[in-house]
Amino acid sequence: MKGLILSGGAGTRLRPITHTSAKQLVPIANKPILFYGIEDMAAAGITEIGIIIAPATGDEIREYVGDGSQFGVEITWIVQDEPLGLAHCVLIARDFLGDDDFVMYLGDNMLEQGLTEFVEQFETARAAADAPQLTETAVVPAAQILLAKVDNPTAFGVAEIGPDGEVVQLVEKPEVPPSDLALVGVYLFDPTIHEAVAAIEPSPRGELEITDAIQWLVTSGHRVNHEVLVGWWIDTGKKDPLLECNRLVLDTLRRSVEGEVDDASSIDGRVVIEPGAKIVNSTVRGPAIIGAGTIVEDSYVGPYSSIAIDCRITHSEIDNSVLLRRSSITDIPRLTDSLVGRDTEISKGDARPRATRVMLGDHCHLEIE
Ligand code: DAU
Repeated sequence: MKGLILSGGAGTRLRPITHTSAKQLVPIANKPILFYGIEDMAAAGITEIGIIIAPATGDEIREYVGDGSQFGVEITWIVQDEPLGLAHCVLIARDFLGDDDFVMYLGDNMLEQGLTEFVEQFETARAAADAPQLTETAVVPAAQILLAKVDNPTAFGVAEIGPDGEVVQLVEKPEVPPSDLALVGVYLFDPTIHEAVAAIEPSPRGELEITDAIQWLVTSGHRVNHEVLVGWWIDTGKKDPLLECNRLVLDTLRRSVEGEVDDASSIDGRVVIEPGAKIVNSTVRGPAIIGAGTIVEDSYVGPYSSIAIDCRITHSEIDNSVLLRRSSITDIPRLTDSLVGRDTEISKGDARPRATRVMLGDHCHLEIE
């Protein structure tokens, strides 16, 4: 079994962060979202992984991931010139995938459950194909999808399930959803999917949809199995779900204080202070993580904060937020529910006239108290 991780796309819903970086590299508890997917694959025994990247952000992703040895896997890079859809990714990964079964994973999705059980289920069902005594009675699936019950199915691919658990219909972001079962960004395929992605046409939004390819499998008489997800699943492609995901992961943190903490500071609860971080005359209340090289001085860092490396928090209070590397927060009485990009400065000035002065990039969102 091989793995295919989709880390191309435009990332428009996380602008301005994605003007300069890939959305799959935004950190959750100080680790890029993409790394969780690679680790889940490695844990499920998948060591040959293809990663789809876009020309604009691909080099940075390559730099972060390296050759895969840090995860114990081997990476093949596949550049997608334009974001022409999830099924297009399968089309351009044909040489890498060969005739192997594979798991396809959307690089901006995270799930609590991991992949091991899902992969095992498919492998068990597929094993019937190699056991002649079983093939007469067992229906061997060509694909298996993962579903989750959601309140807003119109935002996702949606599945309709038949009486014996088979997928009978799939629609991408339907106006009138056939059920409340959304497609989670994890799919298992056998090589029949290559016929499907070659047979379908682009959707009205100009993409080759993987939902259409799976629908093609169903219509052509192939069995598509499903599993309903246990535990949480988050498509981290927007700010609020990303902060929610950060909270869920921080909740699993184990306390580890390796940085410097002075006597005037207190570190309460499940907090990670990475080596090289400094806490001076401050309170850090967990769950929270402070990256290496970051200095927190005369400040309060409250629950559900992930502060990346080389940041500076001075005379400020912050909680439920994600700060990317080299950002600084100075004299801000309360910063909450925020996602702050790299090399960003937020400070309070004394200049007259008293006013809010900003230099914001395109597609920013600023909410003033
Ligand atoms: O999150 C689950 C949903 O993901 C499913 O319910 C939908 O059926 C599925 O189409 C997908 O919808 P999104 O609109 O969220 O897909 P998005 O454009 O965010 O792309 C998902 C990932 O795939 C993301 O990491 C970017 C990458 N991608 C996307 C496209 C369109 C590529 O690598 N290449 C592409 O051409």
